[in-house]
Amino acid sequence: MAAQIPEHLIDEIRQANDIVDIVGEYVSLKKQGRNYFGLCPFHGEKTPSFSVTQDKQIFHCFGCGKGGNVFTFLMEIEGFTFQQAVEHLAEKSGQTLPDQYAGQIEQANHSHDQVGLKAYEWLTKFYHHVLSHAKEGEQAQHYLKERGLTDEIIEQFQIGFSPPASELVPQFLAKKDFNLQLLVASGVLTRNDQNDAYDRFKGRVVFPIRNHLGKTVGFGGRSITDIEPKYLNSPESSLFHKGKLLYNFDLARSEMKKAGQAILFEGYMDVISAFQAGIKNGVASLGTAVTEHQAALLKRYVDTVVICYDGDNAGVEAAFKAAKLFLKVGGQVRVASLPDQLDPDAYIKQYGGDRFKHEVIEASSTYMSFIMTYYRKGYNLQLEADKIAYINTIIAEIAELDSVLDRDHYARQLAKSHQLSHETIIAEVNEKRKKQGKNRDKLSSSSHTNERKLIQNKKKLLPAYHTAERKLLAYMFYDTAIADQIKHDLGASFNIDMHKIIVTHLYAFYEEGHEANISHFIERLDDQAIKNHVIEIAMEPISPDITSNEIKDYIHIIKAEQEDKVLIRNLEAEQKAAELNKDFVKAAQIGMEIMEIQKRLKQSKSSR
Ligand code: UTP
Ligand code: MN
Repeated sequence: MAAQIPEHLIDEIRQANDIVDIVGEYVSLKKQGRNYFGLCPFHGEKTPSFSVTQDKQIFHCFGCGKGGNVFTFLMEIEGFTFQQAVEHLAEKSGQTLPDQYAGQIEQANHSHDQVGLKAYEWLTKFYHHVLSHAKEGEQAQHYLKERGLTDEIIEQFQIGFSPPASELVPQFLAKKDFNLQLLVASGVLTRNDQNDAYDRFKGRVVFPIRNHLGKTVGFGGRSITDIEPKYLNSPESSLFHKGKLLYNFDLARSEMKKAGQAILFEGYMDVISAFQAGIKNGVASLGTAVTEHQAALLKRYVDTVVICYDGDNAGVEAAFKAAKLFLKVGGQVRVASLPDQLDPDAYIKQYGGDRFKHEVIEASSTYMSFIMTYYRKGYNLQLEADKIAYINTIIAEIAELDSVLDRDHYARQLAKSHQLSHETIIAEVNEKRKKQGKNRDKLSSSSHTNERKLIQNKKKLLPAYHTAERKLLAYMFYDTAIADQIKHDLGASFNIDMHKIIVTHLYAFYEEGHEANISHFIERLDDQAIKNHVIEIAMEPISPDITSNEIKDYIHIIKAEQEDKVLIRNLEAEQKAAELNKDFVKAAQIGMEIMEIQKRLKQSKSSR
């Protein structure tokens, strides 16, 4: 059985991996005040309500309520177990786990996926070796050189060749102790007419398709003869989700964040050629049309996506559909256009990377300019009826835009090119929006005010003693001295049951000799509901130089609430007794007293 990783190692690993860096690999974070904000990767949203606090090393989404520390984040986003998250981070920060703890993932988890990943890893090496060193690879080697790929890029992308002799790949895998039946079942291999396990890529140049962690999860195989189809891809499997992955995403991720934009290509070769020319923020879908999932994925990293598809008709149609998707997920879209007969790879080969960068990518059209050109083809603008239909189509498109400024800009542009008044166009646009229930413009609020609003809304509903308890807890998470004081003055007598539970855990945590460390604390909580509460409270802003008087104030509010509650409870008992004695005058008097206290309570709550 796998040995538990000892706590001091977990501590070291947690400390070596800043949550801002780790989350930053999945979410584009912007610093605002003390926190970082971005689009939540766990639920769809257009305005950021996901925040990461560097001081506390925790994350929290005000939208969907998910939160935790760096391990929890990886468990959620990668589906890792705790041990896997620890191992993954140890590897990242270059810490070597002692043998008895390392590699537990693979030993403990002999799932299909693990076997598939291993097989793909071996196959990647095998194909690449055949291409680079074997006699069988010469033709493919020649083909790739002819297409202009350098040895370095072939190495970096681990491009390979599957030898035409059909038995070699199954033999190789069998020798590595893989069960071939299992590999057929998981889609790594297929069967031929004789029902033997067989490599579908035989005789093809293979492009390993890596997931975002850089592990091969499938291949694209390019025919280098006249054998059809031109490209053959690994089948959909639990490892290889074509609608979710993007080709080259792992390498492009940091580049696109740096550039603030991603380039979306149609083909593997386009991505590779651009990469070779120094344009490294390119990705491609996997032989299928781009999906909303993929669009949303990119949107988490960049604001702008440049769609760079082939210049032919099919390319323009596909670009139109992709552009709509990116707009839907709230992204900025640009569309590059290429001369009719060229795809990006051919363009780069012919004109070079510099011209591609400046004359194609930087010269790409805005979404609306692209749309205006796109629709123009369908109409004969010399005809009055066509012209009106065209203008109406464009007005509908303008009405779809989220930003007032954009709508105004394009209304002006449309008005100008058709000698119409800007006011008329805008009036039409607003009419359309009204019909679609879009007439109310969302105030463009920054994520910071978003967060504040969310917190304020919540706070408004809370009575003073509740807020005081939350505040105190936040300080207790932050400072053991404050926790000690509260333990002495209040113990676990908080008014809110959940807070009682939390302080009990917290006292125990400190008694075990731990430092104040919220990220560490939540890791030790098993119950998800408690954990979520703790995170939410930990997000309360605190000031490092709080005075002991302020702390006393909080304690006072909490105690007063308790005393009043006890008082009311006692009075209620007396009242019942009086009623039983049929002393209704006394019962009524007590009732008045209770109401007085309740009124006072209410006043003191709203005045705080
Ligand atoms: P293209 O036909 O544009 O290929 O298909 P390409 O990228 O220019 O490839 P080269 O330059 O001829 O080698 C674009 C993408 O569509 C998928 C592949 O993912 C390819 O990269 N495709 C294409 C297939 O899956 N099957 C096919 O038969 C053709
Ligand atoms: Mn091509």
